[in-house]
Amino acid sequence: MGVRKPIVAIDGPVGAGKSTTARRVARELGFVFVDTGAMYRAVTLDVLEKNTDPGDEGAVKAIVENSTVELRSVENGQRTFLNGRDVTDRIRDRDVTAAVSAVSAQKAVRERMTELQRALGRDGGVVMEGRDIGTVVFPNAEFKIFLDAAIETRAERRYEEMVSKGMKISIKELIEEIRERDKANTERALAPLKKAPDAILIDTTDMTFEEQVATIVSLVRGEKG
Ligand code: DC
Repeated sequence: MGVRKPIVAIDGPVGAGKSTTARRVARELGFVFVDTGAMYRAVTLDVLEKNTDPGDEGAVKAIVENSTVELRSVENGQRTFLNGRDVTDRIRDRDVTAAVSAVSAQKAVRERMTELQRALGRDGGVVMEGRDIGTVVFPNAEFKIFLDAAIETRAERRYEEMVSKGMKISIKELIEEIRERDKANTERALAPLKKAPDAILIDTTDMTFEEQVATIVSLVRGEKG
C-alpha cells in the first residue's frame, strides 16, 4: 500500500511559465500533469463551433452541460479531447484565445470544470496548473505555488512560443493582449486569479526554466532550496 501522493497546485498569470514548468515538474516527480486552461479552451472551441455568442450564458450553459472534455496523459504531457475529438492544437489558435476569457467567466462553465478537475486530482499525484487551483479547486492542496513574472518577460516568452509556431504578432500587440487577459482573469466575479494566502510566490522574471523546475521539485521532495 502506497502513501497518498500530494497535489501540487500551480497558479499564475498568462506567460509566467506555468505549463512548461508544471509539465516538467510532473515528469520528474512521476505525477500526472493537468493543464486546466486547456479545458476552458476546449469548451470555448465548442462554443465557437456552435456559432454561439461567448457571452450568452444560457446557450453556453447548455453547451457545457452536453459536451465532454477529457484530458489524456501522454508521455510528455497531455492531450485534450472535445466530444471525443483531439483538439490539442486547435485550442491554441487565436480565435479561441480571444474568446476564452468570456467563456471561462461563466458560472456553469466554472462549476463543471471544477468538478472535472477535482475528480482528476482526487487520488493525488497530480501537478495541476491554472488560475484558481490553490484557491478554489484544491484549497487544501499539499503544495501551492504562485508563479509570476514581469509583464515584458511574460510577453517575450509568449512571443518566442508563437513565432516558433509560425504565428505573426508583435511584442507590443502581445503585451496589450496579455494585459487584457490579466485584467479579465483578476477582475472577474467568480474564481478570480489571485495568490492563495498560503501559496509560495515564485517570481520567475530572472530565473531559468531549469531553476523554476528545480525549485518546485525540491519543495515537493522536502529538500532545502
Ligand atoms: O492557461 P491558459 O492561457 O491556457 O488559460 C486559458 C484561459 O482559461 C485563461 O484566459 C483563463 C482561463 N482559466 C481559468 O479561468 N481558470 C483556470 N483554472 C485555467 C484557465
